[in-house]
Amino acid sequence: MTVTANLTALNTLQLAATAQRLVTVTSQEQLQAELAQAVAAEPINVLGGGSNVVLHKMLPGTTLLMNIMGREVLSDDGRHVIARAGAGESWHEWVLWCHHRGFHGLANLALIPGSVGAAPIQNIGAYGIEVAQCIEAVHATHRETGESAILSPDKCEFRYRDSVFKHPQGEGWIITAVDFALDRGAPVEANYPSLRARLSEATLTHDAVLASVMAIRRERLPDPVITPNVGSFFKNPVISLQDVDILRQNFPEVPVYPGPDAGMKVSAAWLIDQLGWRGEERGGVRVSSDHALVLEGCGASSAVPWLSLAEAISSSVEDAYGVSLELEPRVMGRSD
Ligand code: EPU
Repeated sequence: MTVTANLTALNTLQLAATAQRLVTVTSQEQLQAELAQAVAAEPINVLGGGSNVVLHKMLPGTTLLMNIMGREVLSDDGRHVIARAGAGESWHEWVLWCHHRGFHGLANLALIPGSVGAAPIQNIGAYGIEVAQCIEAVHATHRETGESAILSPDKCEFRYRDSVFKHPQGEGWIITAVDFALDRGAPVEANYPSLRARLSEATLTHDAVLASVMAIRRERLPDPVITPNVGSFFKNPVISLQDVDILRQNFPEVPVYPGPDAGMKVSAAWLIDQLGWRGEERGGVRVSSDHALVLEGCGASSAVPWLSLAEAISSSVEDAYGVSLELEPRVMGRSD
């Protein structure tokens, strides 16, 4: 199906963006055919669940709405399972499908909005787990060459909320399916403080972890079906041990966690919260009163107020702590 389309219902900020040409992609073959006939000079945008994007008014060129479905078990030795999901599958439905079959590894990532195909791009993570830990391979087709490939985790260059798919050397790949390595005998992962606090020794089961993760998310994070949001609007900044020492001299209570590349992750929510941003509303966007890292829509219909509130927050954080914040969602399209 090919139409010029309003994308309001296809992004969780409910921004009134227009795609010059929207194509719903339901198979890899169709994707290759679309790429073969795309005009070389025109952009190709890829949209999954629309739950981690900030859309400007116009998406020129072709926007591909990834709707490739399918869930299957590829191998099963009685304990270790390799299972595949199409890029268009709902992430949460996939987590439940695996969980109900006893294929463990993904329970801590329950209720994250979005699609399976988007999960590797920002290496979704929550409650002590990152999706990269369970990825066996990523199937992708290149938007310029039309070439299809199976990328090993190594090639995906997973980092904290980051992968090769967000960088020039990898952003040409369009993810069509993901293979997961799951384990019937996996231990539960319950070390994340807010999760651990809910679980007693007697309830350290995969069922209890799944239920607790869902309960915590429902308490602390707004439901994008009801309140426009993309979860965390900023990444937790990663700084060196030396810079942590400097920060702690002035702010001894700042929460820090081990981060990638021998750095430390600093709680962006805490930095923002201390500056009094919680509940602040500007131009139809507000800082959630339940979680300072989450922005919520309360009337805004364009990307501009979202990005200007984000800018005001990050400059105040930079001024107060000398720490730079990076946006977590991707900004797409043109504002003119
Ligand atoms: N905190 C505050 N004020 C707040 C909220 C939190 O000071 O308003 C402090 C508290 O000290 C709390 C700490 O921040 O203990 C950490 O908060 P939380 O456990 O909610 O984790 P987070 O670092 O803010 C990250 C992810 C979330 C994920 C949670 C749980 C990022 C950018 N965000 O948030 O992911 O659900 O951990 O694992 O890494 C997302 O990416 O969209 C997302 C929601």
